[in-house]
Amino acid sequence: MPEAKLRVGVLASGRGSNLQAIIDAIEVGKLAARIAVVISNKKDAQALERARRHGVADVFLDPAPYKDRPDGREAYDRAVLAVLKEHEVELVALAGYMKIVTRVFIDAYPNRIMNIHPALLPSFPGLKAQQQALDWGVKVSGCTVHFVTEGVDTGPIIRQAAVPVQENDTAETLEARMLAEEHRIYPEAIQLFADGRLSVEGRRVRIR
Ligand code: GRF
Repeated sequence: MPEAKLRVGVLASGRGSNLQAIIDAIEVGKLAARIAVVISNKKDAQALERARRHGVADVFLDPAPYKDRPDGREAYDRAVLAVLKEHEVELVALAGYMKIVTRVFIDAYPNRIMNIHPALLPSFPGLKAQQQALDWGVKVSGCTVHFVTEGVDTGPIIRQAAVPVQENDTAETLEARMLAEEHRIYPEAIQLFADGRLSVEGRRVRIR
């Protein structure tokens, strides 16, 4: 009997090009995993459309009803968790998910939530990382896949790729070259997890 494949749940708010890279890596046999569900907090996220096109379950979870509750963020995360559990998700991949996950979420998937960030962390966390890199004048930026802990873009680093900044770069041209690297390292990081090769020791991720 073939070995059961790692069940990945992807959370995405927008374009979903990283989701697409994961789907493509699976479809060409480079990544031995399956996407169990794609969840979005945005109804028209292109990511949901990409999921549908590839026969992957897609779920829009509207954050609006949770907005005015004092525990709204946690309650929303519990709703997301319920969908992930329903689809028996083992690893969560955030891919352009524009919400900060709460402790409730992190505790449910300790060292089993990954994120991709378009900078060489710990430089330039948060939004508009490519513009931050240009404004600072760095000559090399890049992208990072990391485990998600509390705090924005601060968790243990799994994989990074460098992207040189060119003299005439704009945020858009830098982003385009960055995405090519993101699309390469995110499926790689998931494969390392699927193979059981990652272990977290303090801030360090050991790759066996
Ligand atoms: C990427 O730049 C990723 O690094 C960041 O958000 C963007 C998502 O792009 N976290 P996409 O939706 O995967 O195309």
